[in-house]
Amino acid sequence: MRVTTRACANIAFIKYWGNRPEGGNFPLNPSISMNLADCLTTTTLQLESSLKEDSIVINGTPAAGKAALRTSKFLDEARHRAGVSTKAILHSSNNFPTGSGIASSASGFAALAVAAARAYGINLGTDDLSRLARLGSGSAARSVPAGFVELAEGRANEQAVARQLAPETHWPELRDVIVICSTSEKAISSADGHHLAHSSEMYPARLAAVPERAERVRAAIKDRDLKTLGEASEEDALSMHAVMMTSIPPLLYWTARTVEIIHKVWELRKKGIMGYFTIDAGPNVHVITTEEFAQSLQKALSSFGEVRVDRPGPGAAIIEEST
Ligand code: PMV
Repeated sequence: MRVTTRACANIAFIKYWGNRPEGGNFPLNPSISMNLADCLTTTTLQLESSLKEDSIVINGTPAAGKAALRTSKFLDEARHRAGVSTKAILHSSNNFPTGSGIASSASGFAALAVAAARAYGINLGTDDLSRLARLGSGSAARSVPAGFVELAEGRANEQAVARQLAPETHWPELRDVIVICSTSEKAISSADGHHLAHSSEMYPARLAAVPERAERVRAAIKDRDLKTLGEASEEDALSMHAVMMTSIPPLLYWTARTVEIIHKVWELRKKGIMGYFTIDAGPNVHVITTEEFAQSLQKALSSFGEVRVDRPGPGAAIIEEST
């Protein structure tokens, strides 16, 4: 059995940061994102009974250490559910830089969840595929459904699932102008960073503030209201990074370029070019805007690095299979 799947990365307007200590990536706050149509992971999984260990190749290079262990552990979960022990050959590649604040773990584990469920013959609907993807990476749960998606907080599998708020066709003019000012791998992965959230004195304040902000984001998506979505997204990104910066030890994912881009986005907004930044666990900046302003933003921000313009994307899916 050989199956190929594809999944989009996603960008969160309300960020998932911090989870329950017991494992299983149960988020402590709801998060809301949109899939990115042009930031894709393509994954091929082939079961191979002669193998003693999984063979994992990511972006053309055999995976070793932490990355290989994390992927094999995920496949173990699928094997456990299927009641088989057959190992697999896995080839996974991204069309965007890995580990630099564009959520490669999101698209990676969403694509892998769909591939593993199919290859190992576990029959799962979208909700359960999202729960399975969450075990690999919390944000991966949000790359399973299409379009605009919310991952609920929760202490049980029943609650901690990502569901669609609106399909990608609901707001086709929305854009994410991604400024890639660095492609180097981050020093602390978000998987490790989540555990530090509790050490920040800001974390309780963030958890208390998120529900109201999430409500504004849900309404903004429903009404296709860029200003409300953008303002809430900037607030939420700054709140998450305040938690990161005040964790012990501190996590400072920004570089000087990141700060320059923030100022530039504010300056452009004063001139009527309506973009709003958000930043994940890395130095790169996502500018949320609409088709109307995307080109001007791309031009104005191109001196900071490669700029990609993305749009709302589909859910994770099988694109090819053979036996
Ligand atoms: O899924 P993880 O463990 O890589 O966490 C994602 C964390 C952020 O990208 C910073 C925020 C988010 O909600 O995507």
